[in-house]
Amino acid sequence: MLLKKSAVFILSVTFFVGLSVSANKSLAEPVRILADTLFLKSLGIKPLTSDPELKLSMAEVTEYQANTISHSAHKFGKCGGFERLQQDADIQESFELMRHQEAQAKVFNYLGSPEVATGKNPQIEAATKLVSEASLKETVQWLSAYHTRSHAGPENNKHVEDLAEKARQLLANLKYPFQIDLIAHKETTQKTLRVRLQGKDRPNEVVILGGHLDTLNGPIAKAKAPGADDNASGASNIFEALRIVSIQEQPSRSLEFFWYAGEESGLLGSSEIAQTYKQSKVDVVGVFQLDMTLFPGDGELVFGDIADFTNPWLRNYLKSLNDYYVGAKWKETQCGYACSDHASWNRQGYAAVMPFESTLGTMNPNIHSNKDLITPALNFKHSAAFAKLAVAFALDYSNSSLRPSF
Ligand code: BES
Ligand code: ZN
Repeated sequence: MLLKKSAVFILSVTFFVGLSVSANKSLAEPVRILADTLFLKSLGIKPLTSDPELKLSMAEVTEYQANTISHSAHKFGKCGGFERLQQDADIQESFELMRHQEAQAKVFNYLGSPEVATGKNPQIEAATKLVSEASLKETVQWLSAYHTRSHAGPENNKHVEDLAEKARQLLANLKYPFQIDLIAHKETTQKTLRVRLQGKDRPNEVVILGGHLDTLNGPIAKAKAPGADDNASGASNIFEALRIVSIQEQPSRSLEFFWYAGEESGLLGSSEIAQTYKQSKVDVVGVFQLDMTLFPGDGELVFGDIADFTNPWLRNYLKSLNDYYVGAKWKETQCGYACSDHASWNRQGYAAVMPFESTLGTMNPNIHSNKDLITPALNFKHSAAFAKLAVAFALDYSNSSLRPSF
């Protein structure tokens, strides 16, 4: 059934695909992708290397094919996504790392979740109470009013530059060192925004919070793509966390806030950044990802805890922060593939977590269309709880000496 549906869809999208090409690549250029083996087979693509245990394969396709696959993956969301690989990526090393991560998770689960000795901190509790649903809504409204934030769209950096300007204004009076960068990429002309707050005692230890800023609505890059839930929600939660963290004391570890480029077309921005960090041996102690936080598919304050491409130790730590400061109900769920930027960090061996708006089966059905707008179905109290969790994670982890033991 899946085979047939995929084939029909591929035929119907190839007509449009040329319009949404990755902004600076020619259609014939070869690109390497990593995808579910069955998904590739269903598309008639022959893998170069497969790992039967992980059920993943690496294949070389043209830029044109990659775009086609991207759209069919979105259409058949839960059946399989794919990830673009850097041309020089060592795939056997990646397979090895993934097998290691799976084995570690089994040991961790076997041992049971250890108690994480943080304890409730009144200053952090007070900071989480500063999260404002009104300011969150304002940012989501502002971001979703851009016609599109597509990485291949007509003005693909306008909103990125505008958000950078907001960050500059926010931090204008900060009393300790910080940096605001617009990071250029090889695979897209869209830029990633990074805000770095310098750590006081251990600046080389880095705590990361992020979410993608780009949007998608089918294969036509200039189509209206408001992306209120996917992912103005997560991007605004991260900005709200920055607003609150920036009025606290300087953290011990450095904090980096990211708004990634080109996630919707294969994690383009985050995969380049995570690879660069790994090559430069940056000591990233944990990555917190938000992608979709406004649609309470399982009920208000019921969170999905993405359990694949994430680190079990960090998930357990985040769960304890939730119990102290947020009180959301926690439900384990899986994407089944590298569904967002956390997977880019995980791929490089860094510990990542991604709390999600619901379990996968009940997520917002309107994403990747012009219907991803602020409607009564979206819930700002639900989303604000993710911003509280982001504040708690940023403040607790950046002032801690804990690091993933798995
Ligand atoms: N927010 C979406 C999808 C998503 C679904 C995230 C469920 C988390 C849980 C995300 O922006 C997206 O569309 N990702 C792509 C993957 C990418 C590698 C092309 C997808 O799911 O097709
Ligand atoms: Zn998304």
